[in-house]
Amino acid sequence: MTDYAGRLRLGVNIDHVATLRNARGGNLPDPVRAAQLAEAAGADGITAHLREDRRHIIDSDIDRLMETLRVPLNFEMAATEEMQKIALRHKPHAVCIVPEKREERTTEGGLEVAREENKLAGYIAPLREAGCRVSIFIGADERQIAAAHRIGAQVIELHTGAYCDAHAEGDFETRDRELEMMREMSAYAHSLGLEVHAGHGLNYDTVAPVAAFPEVVELNIGHFLIGESVFRGLEPAIAEMRRLMDAARA
Ligand code: PXP
Repeated sequence: MTDYAGRLRLGVNIDHVATLRNARGGNLPDPVRAAQLAEAAGADGITAHLREDRRHIIDSDIDRLMETLRVPLNFEMAATEEMQKIALRHKPHAVCIVPEKREERTTEGGLEVAREENKLAGYIAPLREAGCRVSIFIGADERQIAAAHRIGAQVIELHTGAYCDAHAEGDFETRDRELEMMREMSAYAHSLGLEVHAGHGLNYDTVAPVAAFPEVVELNIGHFLIGESVFRGLEPAIAEMRRLMDAARA
């Protein structure tokens, strides 16, 4: 048995519970309560992205998540000085470095690692020393993955957005090409000793082929699950995703 053949982990991203809260101001719905329900529904971790503009998760959410979570927190952040300080104060289980543009609606692409290698190597070193597992959100691109490995990241998270978008648009040629690239790059990253995660835009229709990659050990899924929970409740929405992931793995 290979070292990566265990149960595929599901990280539930709760950002969009905070989006809903912030639409009205005030405290409801509470993303920390969503995290607790996600834990109860079988989430293996919670993901939260503290954006520079605090459009969804805010600093006090991170404080409360760190105080109350029983599963690991995957703290997504841009490579800024401010975020590094916050991460070093909390020392979450994992830190996922993502590119961030103010004008984007969501994280549109993977991080440009190769061009910023020295800077990023220096940036992540203290995070690693503090005990955080450092992950880089990245496109399925050999050059970027090799650079992520060189800078000392322990994990890469493959950006599944282009694959999911192509599926939604019915462009199955592009979808299958994206999937094939992710398949090859998961194997490549694993061969370098990197742990491989994947996420962005995944839903019930798109999760299985990615969940079936043997090297992928964690999927991070948010927007779809929070939307689906409006119709069937958060716990059943997560349980169904869990079922599809396990079925794809089997
Ligand atoms: N992984 C990373 C690195 C992300 O930035 C996001 C979005 O915040 C996700 C996973 C989850 O994406 P989605 O909300 O589209 O499921």
